[in-house]
Amino acid sequence: MSPSGPSYEDEPLIDAGPPRTAGPTAETSDLDETGRPRVEIPDPPPLTGHGPARVVAMCNQKGGVGKTTTTINLGAALAELGRRVLLVDFDPQGSLSVGLGLNPHQLEHTVYNLLMEREVSLADVVVPSGVERMDLLPSNIDLSAAEVQLVQEVAREQTLQRVLAPALPDYDVILVDCQPSLGLLTVNALTASDGVIVPLECEYFALRGVALLKSTIDKVGERLNPRLRIDGVLGTMFDGRTLHGREVMARLVEAWGDTVFHTVIRRTVKFSDSTVAGEPITQYAGSSGGADAYRRLAREVLSRWHAA
Ligand SMILES: Nc1ncnc2c1ncn2[C@@H]1O[C@H](COP(=O)(O)OP(=O)(O)O)[C@@H](O)[C@H]1O
Ligand SMILES: [Mg+2]
Repeated sequence: MSPSGPSYEDEPLIDAGPPRTAGPTAETSDLDETGRPRVEIPDPPPLTGHGPARVVAMCNQKGGVGKTTTTINLGAALAELGRRVLLVDFDPQGSLSVGLGLNPHQLEHTVYNLLMEREVSLADVVVPSGVERMDLLPSNIDLSAAEVQLVQEVAREQTLQRVLAPALPDYDVILVDCQPSLGLLTVNALTASDGVIVPLECEYFALRGVALLKSTIDKVGERLNPRLRIDGVLGTMFDGRTLHGREVMARLVEAWGDTVFHTVIRRTVKFSDSTVAGEPITQYAGSSGGADAYRRLAREVLSRWHAA
């Protein structure tokens, strides 16, 4: 759609103010940032116990769309809500591990050892994340060898599922941060998961490649894992002040309908700052708009899971 297309002048301003999720500016519109009517996200039901965990893959074969940022910050926000969370770094880049302050070269055991060596157990690999109630299975470049070596294994697509099984009773949520590809590691993540969250950067080519991702998810669902469903599509790096940002968001909603989360993550440098600090934004800048957005996402995700 070109700027000379339909006029947006009559449309209520979505939000031209500072990145706040509450406040007079945001309240002036009946529509939320996705262009749909605002919804009330219910309070999460109180916890009566822990486990079995819901396993969720953070998946998009495009890099730089916010998978790792969402894994860390959604995980931390769920932990704030009392959930026990395990994060799995399933990208040989190790960005999730770095983003939580680990030095990937100083790890004795990683997800690689867990996948490939029978004598290594979860307890040997799991490390605290620096956030209460949230643990991490870290990775580094070693994991890239697993992609090759797994090809020869029996039940090669089920390896992650097998090694995560003992963790299910101890956690409420396991988030798997996938690498930017649709290779065997990602297929392992999808096979181990109950749900998929697809972060999409709100820029013009965001929808490119999404059909391929969808067909991979469908194939894994048919052939390997009938439990698998798409929990939601998350718009990231959104700039609601520009026509471009709002147009891309409108196309996302057109293509994915109510699969798109009402929560949208705006573009802010606070995310790279908090990565450098090795902390989730909920701790690094706990009262920032970005922290609030991930807290809202946590509530929205929980309400979808409970409705399912
Ligand atoms: N909402 C956002 N606003 C601004 N920068 C962001 C946002 N989300 C992520 N980033 C930054 O964009 C880069 C890519 O994000 P990342 O989560 O690593 O993507 P992926 O895991 O999909 O490759 C990182 O430098 C990260 O700090
Ligand atoms: Mg990443």
